[in-house]
Amino acid sequence: MAQFDLVIRNALLYDGSGAAPRAGDLALEGGRIAALGSVAGEARRTLDAKGLALAPGFIDVHTHDDFAVIKHPGMAFKVLGGVTTCIIGNCGFGPAPYREAWRMAAGFQSAGEVAGWENHQGYLARLERDAPSVNVAMLIGHGTVRLASMAEPKNPAPSGAELAKMKALVQEGIDAGAVGMSTGLVYEPGRNAATEEIVELAKLMAGTGALYATHMRDESLGLLDSVDEAVAIGERAGVPVQISHHKASGRKAWGMVDQSLARIDAAQRRGLDVHADQYPYTAGSTILSAVVADGRFGGGLGTLTADDVVIAAAKGHADWEGKSIAQLAREMQLEPLATAHRILEAVPGTTAVLHAMNEDDVRTVMRHPSTMIGSDGIPALDGRPHPRLYGTFARVLGRYARDLGLFSIEEAVYRMTGFPAAKFGFKDRGLLREGFAADLVLFDPKTVIDVGTYEDPKHAPKGIAQVFVNGIPVVEDARHTGARPGRVLRRAG
Ligand code: ZN
Ligand code: CU
Repeated sequence: MAQFDLVIRNALLYDGSGAAPRAGDLALEGGRIAALGSVAGEARRTLDAKGLALAPGFIDVHTHDDFAVIKHPGMAFKVLGGVTTCIIGNCGFGPAPYREAWRMAAGFQSAGEVAGWENHQGYLARLERDAPSVNVAMLIGHGTVRLASMAEPKNPAPSGAELAKMKALVQEGIDAGAVGMSTGLVYEPGRNAATEEIVELAKLMAGTGALYATHMRDESLGLLDSVDEAVAIGERAGVPVQISHHKASGRKAWGMVDQSLARIDAAQRRGLDVHADQYPYTAGSTILSAVVADGRFGGGLGTLTADDVVIAAAKGHADWEGKSIAQLAREMQLEPLATAHRILEAVPGTTAVLHAMNEDDVRTVMRHPSTMIGSDGIPALDGRPHPRLYGTFARVLGRYARDLGLFSIEEAVYRMTGFPAAKFGFKDRGLLREGFAADLVLFDPKTVIDVGTYEDPKHAPKGIAQVFVNGIPVVEDARHTGARPGRVLRRAG
């Protein structure tokens, strides 16, 4: 008779494949799933899960937790919401080289600098020495690499020597086991890059399984051209594509997601491996500097008004947090653009919540089979971060699947587990299968829901009972156990 570490009995098993759930048991042994279904045998511990759903741990495909996994290794804001794996390095903001990574990200992180590392390999080695509570997979950040390689990163084209340096840095990341490379084509310095430069760098990933993830050049009226550019990069370089936080931003662009989704479908029919991710809210969030990056208020982020933009976190200026630019403009007696510049002079890394999307569009994108879930949470824990940092996965399950019936719970689970695991190449995660890593979430499908609001965001969701990472309990009775069993997930060869 087998002796298991733990048997979870009488759960409703959502296996992560999208299949309908079935009642059963699941046994854990040595950090892996040892048996499923009707489990006989002895166990050192038994957990009665009657009435609860058991699913693979959620994979947050879009995070900015590069520094958070080091500064806040407990990652409570993620694990209490069921997340067991974070993909870091999105939107062109990567973890290496350290100096440039910190320069780009310092503003939207809480607390101060940490001791550095040299390169991508050094970053991952550091996470292995001092593990967080979640598993981590890494994207190389194109913006970070560009900043580290060019004498003048605002230039549109790198010199031959500069491009060679960028290639060397990207190659180092690929060799270290990155699952892909990201761009942020609205942010400095990525926004200055031509398509050609990105194709040249993405080609280094061809045949490795690593993918190209992109915060596209324009998510507003230029949305369709931007999808075309992302698809062209994937097709020319021969790499899979992940469109980050798929949306139509700004009133004038609302409704365009029907066409952007059709372009994804068309590219898939041509044979490209292209998908997207989404966070389940009508507001976005980013650094305030991006709102004024092209010299106009709102600019490339869509037709945003001063009422749409609310300060999320501004270190040392808590009085600004939660106020819109329109409100602050009245207080400062300035125009909106000048108000934003005044705020940025005081706190360059100020982040904002942008009320820029339409609920119908959010639902249209979510229903589409190309969409998986990623929080895009910004871990500015001292301010009022967008509530997606905590609530993304519970909100999709509770609000969009259960309450609004957009799709079934098993479909929602699939888009957080088996689907992203397949896309990012996690060969032994994302499904309840014998031999797979025991990353698990036990949740109550009747009560699971996000709790945080834009005004009061810092709350763990309801209904997430237990979370296991590599077989170790990280959340018990909705409380963090303090365990930090996360692993680095390198690209499988
Ligand atoms: Zn982004
Ligand atoms: Cu992002």
